[in-house]
Amino acid sequence: MSTEALTQMLRITQKQNVADDIAFFELRRADGGDLPPFSAGGHITLRIPNGDLRKYSLCNDPDERDRYCIAVKRDAFGRGGSMNLVDAAREGDDIAVSEPRNDFELVAAPQYLFIAGGIGITPILSMIRHLRATGQGKFKLIYLTRSGQTTAFLDELKQPEFRGMVTIHHDEGNIENALDLWPVLEKPGMAHLYCCGPRGLMQAVRDMTGHWSSARVHFEDFTPAGAMTKPDDVAFNVQLARSGATYAVPVGKTILEVLRANGHEVPSSCESGTCGSCRTKLLAGEVDHRDLALADYEKADSLMVCVSRGLSDITLDL
Ligand code: FES
Repeated sequence: MSTEALTQMLRITQKQNVADDIAFFELRRADGGDLPPFSAGGHITLRIPNGDLRKYSLCNDPDERDRYCIAVKRDAFGRGGSMNLVDAAREGDDIAVSEPRNDFELVAAPQYLFIAGGIGITPILSMIRHLRATGQGKFKLIYLTRSGQTTAFLDELKQPEFRGMVTIHHDEGNIENALDLWPVLEKPGMAHLYCCGPRGLMQAVRDMTGHWSSARVHFEDFTPAGAMTKPDDVAFNVQLARSGATYAVPVGKTILEVLRANGHEVPSSCESGTCGSCRTKLLAGEVDHRDLALADYEKADSLMVCVSRGLSDITLDL
């Protein structure tokens, strides 16, 4: 996982449950001073109590300069980081934190469509708070959760000021109750779409927005490439057309990691297939595209080397 240097030691000044298995944390400097600024959609990296590093989106208004707020879902089926943070971190603890970074920038647009699944609401809440504070752009939010008990920030988003702008849908854990998103995605209009949530939701939204300009569809995901491994992954070779070098990409390593290990610098940021910064031209070979950044029509001659794999040996324009 690409990480940022942990340059600040911040204090947990508030910790509270905001829904079933979702904890809200407020982080401040011990002296109460200003923090490095962030923009809507930004995130920070934390060293959690077990020593691991995890990225979390900031959910407060970027105009608040003296605190960072995150909300963390305690995921019993995840890699253990969220459980460790929610269970072991306490109010008053100091925690190492990076400066904010943003791979999910809110670009200027006349309209926004936000689709949040579960805890994916956090970066979108920051965007909504920013838009409300600055009066820039109209938005609609579709917020998909299992039930009222599992919905963070429900009271805030049910306020009358959001009437007509926010749709909250609970599926009660039954796929048959899932909201049909096609009616809102069928006609792209002028909106920019921001989607954050479970990978399945984002993949479904990606599939339904093949006719949108890819520049107007944005995803955020902190799932590392290693967690996208499939049982039928195979090793393959990657040939670099310009240098003539060929490298083996074994199972369990990404193309990006292999290129890096061999001294090739490829731009990257999210390393989870959402930001688009590692886009590389494909000259030959068959690819299993695992990103959410490329539209279907772009996949014939491009791939995201942070997550996608060769189904055969492939040749890149590097
Ligand atoms: S680094 Fe973000 S898509 Fe590859």
